[in-house]
Amino acid sequence: MSEAATGRVILVGGGPGDPDLLTIGGLKALRRADVVLYDHLAPLACLDEVRPGTVLIDVGKIPRGPQTTQEDINALLVEHARAGATVVRFKGGDAFVFGRGSEEWQACATAGVPVEVIPGVSSAIAGPELAGIPLTHRGLSQSFTVVSGHVGPDHPGSLVDWTALATSGGTIVILMGVANLAEICAGLIARGLPEDTPAAIVARAAMPGSQVITGTAGTLPALAAEAGVEPPALTVIGAVAGLGLLGH
Ligand SMILES: C[S@@+](CC[C@H](N)C(=O)[O-])C[C@H]1O[C@@H](n2cnc3c(N)ncnc32)[C@H](O)[C@@H]1O
Repeated sequence: MSEAATGRVILVGGGPGDPDLLTIGGLKALRRADVVLYDHLAPLACLDEVRPGTVLIDVGKIPRGPQTTQEDINALLVEHARAGATVVRFKGGDAFVFGRGSEEWQACATAGVPVEVIPGVSSAIAGPELAGIPLTHRGLSQSFTVVSGHVGPDHPGSLVDWTALATSGGTIVILMGVANLAEICAGLIARGLPEDTPAAIVARAAMPGSQVITGTAGTLPALAAEAGVEPPALTVIGAVAGLGLLGH
């Protein structure tokens, strides 16, 4: 396309839910935006910060619910930026952690639209932390791995090396894994993870109604089902999940 872009797109990670966890850079971007395209997991209370007249567009993707397709989101970003707008793409957590921010960047770059990114506090780190679970702790864990549980260990579409994960001795953080929790825990145990490894599921971290359930890799799926845990939730598996800084 030869059309010159006059506006730009700013990919803003909004943090896990509590407006206090939006960065100052993210807040400044919202305050100067002409258009904001937002997801449901972004801290929506922060939208009160935009200037009067800012166009707010809900492109929330509700799992298994109504969706704006990624192609439509990309097209909206490009269209508004080309019309001269400063467009904020406002997301939950960090835009590049299972957030498709990099795809949006690519779509804008292909269209000649300037892009910048403002990193956000990812739920992958903040969620466990707010539940009193450090991802590393001297003597317990020297690494952590964040994986998608969107498809489980036995799914042909999974790109995760679940055997390496099961035997790594580090902390495992699973996002988007509520529906497949039983399959994931069983799959890890089958691949060498000790069944009594401490595990916790943290739902709605940094949001009203947050919930923390603790158990082991063997018991957590049943405990989570019993407690009626629903997304957004993440699972932490590893010795650090048994540290109990908050007394869970
Ligand atoms: C599509 S991913 C987006 C992750 C996001 N970009 C981030 O960095 O936090 C959505 C998943 O993140 C996790 N998640 C996001 N916000 C959460 C929260 N406040 N509490 C617990 N889990 C959360 C859940 O596993 C959810 O299914």
